[in-house]
Amino acid sequence: MFTKETYINRRAQLKKTVASGILLFLGNDESGMNYEDNTYPFRQDSTFLYFFGSPYAGLSAVIDIDNDKEIIFGDELTIDHIVWMGTQPTIKEKSERVGIFNTQPSKKIVAYLKQAQEKGQKIHFLPTYRPEHQIKLMNWLGYSPAAQEASVPFIRAVVNQRNYKSAEEIVEIEKACDVTSDMHLKAMQMLRPGMCESEVVGALTDVALSAGGGLSFPIIATVNGQTLHNHYHGNIVKSGDMLLIDAGAETEMGYAGDMSSTIPADKKFTGRQKEVYDIQVASHLAAVNALRPGISFKEVYELSSKVIVEGMKSLGIMKGDADEAVHAGAHAMFFPCGLGHMMGLDVHDMENLGEVYVGYDGEPKSTEFGRKSLRLGRKLEPGFVLTIEPGVYFIPELIDLWKDEKKFTEFINYDKLETYKDFSGIRNEEDYLITQNGARRLGKKIPLTTDEVESLR
Ligand code: GLY
Ligand code: MN
Repeated sequence: MFTKETYINRRAQLKKTVASGILLFLGNDESGMNYEDNTYPFRQDSTFLYFFGSPYAGLSAVIDIDNDKEIIFGDELTIDHIVWMGTQPTIKEKSERVGIFNTQPSKKIVAYLKQAQEKGQKIHFLPTYRPEHQIKLMNWLGYSPAAQEASVPFIRAVVNQRNYKSAEEIVEIEKACDVTSDMHLKAMQMLRPGMCESEVVGALTDVALSAGGGLSFPIIATVNGQTLHNHYHGNIVKSGDMLLIDAGAETEMGYAGDMSSTIPADKKFTGRQKEVYDIQVASHLAAVNALRPGISFKEVYELSSKVIVEGMKSLGIMKGDADEAVHAGAHAMFFPCGLGHMMGLDVHDMENLGEVYVGYDGEPKSTEFGRKSLRLGRKLEPGFVLTIEPGVYFIPELIDLWKDEKKFTEFINYDKLETYKDFSGIRNEEDYLITQNGARRLGKKIPLTTDEVESLR
């Protein structure tokens, strides 16, 4: 944990911004996988972690701005808990570590909130992403899930703090990135034809857990990289395949790393793989070189998309004017996702609070296929931490669909594209901090170019 002053200052800033009412924070509970006591690994809610530090289940908190009170609600462990699961600091100890001296048993929160409602105080809460949060809001505030309207001022205030990473957060994020780099280096060193994808997943998990933290999201390690979030790990990697890996570590404090690499099963890429890989790298570097405060991420996305179109033109797969093709959305055939996202305590930082607030500063997002998946579009500012991850994907179902619809025939040579239908996909991903005058890559460098990757094979 950071020092208690960090948490005290974060809460002070939040109170100043929201200015009135009660801020309600729902910590996470244990969650059963297949029966109550067989639980998923516990993960505290990230906003709770940010303001209250405590990585323990069963806590809630209230900041009563109107009455200048900060209270953590929770129950002490019973002897049965301690016998089976071990002990923990008391609620008082957990709270004092972050500068909170008012603690109460869980059941008291109901009366506290009821009284506040009766006095006409506004109770602000954030969007929920777990059913138990919705049940709590229903039981405590009387709103059915459909009527639970999250507070926009609360969302915006939290986003406005968490989007700007402090120096001590950067240190933590960089720790996560270093372990993440080690995971990718391990994959580049170990991959051989004949291995199962799951062997690579096992080895990467070992790197992350051995470093003392965990995974920041379920590992993607697939020969079918054309499926953007492919979580199947049962294929044997054959000579001639590429393995697309998207994997990241999380530190003990909860900060994430997130990188991707695409590795040939053999010691070298084939000529055809290299041609497409080089297009991805050119797009990637165009994006990285454009990073600076003041540029909008939408603009960086347009730049990187144009490089992909130019590359597809060089292969004879696309034709026409690259600017016009990108403007029309034809690049989304090969790049149907975003260029990157904010990263912090969540791998897609604060995605639960809404991309429009986190990545667009409240401006509406595009609804167009491809552009709608751009999680980040806003002007970049110092302190933002984000990923750069353009990709080049050949998705057979999308090729068939658009070909049948005769979509973008002025930009796409479908006959040539047919010959790439079995190509799969390529993505490389790095993590960057926006600095005062540019950007800095976070974590140890992992091989990016084909030469760099092949030198480790
Ligand atoms: N690491 C998965 C993603 O960024 O979508
Ligand atoms: Mn990512």
